[in-house]
Amino acid sequence: MAFTIAIDGPAAAGKGTISKAIAAHFGFAHLDTGLLYRATGRRVLLGDDPVDAAYSLSAFDLTGEGLRTPEVAQAASKVAADPQVRAALVDFQKGFARRDGGAVLDGRDIGTVICPDAEVKLFVTASDVIRAERRYLELSAKNMDVTREQVLADVRARDARDASRDAAPMVAAHDAVLLDTSEMSIEEAVAKAIAVIKQAQ
Ligand code: CDP
Repeated sequence: MAFTIAIDGPAAAGKGTISKAIAAHFGFAHLDTGLLYRATGRRVLLGDDPVDAAYSLSAFDLTGEGLRTPEVAQAASKVAADPQVRAALVDFQKGFARRDGGAVLDGRDIGTVICPDAEVKLFVTASDVIRAERRYLELSAKNMDVTREQVLADVRARDARDASRDAAPMVAAHDAVLLDTSEMSIEEAVAKAIAVIKQAQ
């Protein structure tokens, strides 16, 4: 049986961590859709055409710590504004969402464009300063050479671009449950998300 959980929100809101925990809890498959845009952005940084790259992503493109750098995040946010790039990635995401056994997808347009009929929609957010601090700690732990100021600037620039683009802008679906994790530990955020999903089951 298909059961789709759509998780959207701004950069570094904790969508990935919450999605993984939920998927493990319910035994659902998880797709980090940001990886598709990051992989496309990385190919563009290497000189490829954005639309060709989006149509020809391979398993290899979707692996490696190189996808997590702020440079690739910025490139992802730029290619993500191109409607042709988004169109290239739609079918895969929709197919994943309706697979048997349940699916969790996290991104920017999952509850609005990819899965408007998702059984559960969450919009996860936190203040930009808190999100940037969490991402700074994450990148520093991976020995990436970043400063707090750079990470905050990256988060703000991507949020502004993602929210203002014409093609599938980042916005909470009208029927999404808002989860502001500014004052929550990751355990509290996951527990809250699980409670919302149980109510819908
Ligand atoms: O992990 P973080 O929240 O920093 O970013 P991500 O989810 O990996 O997404 C990277 C970029 O891909 C975003 O800034 C968006 O521009 C784009 N994206 C999108 O447009 N639509 C999605 N469904 C997922 C990501």
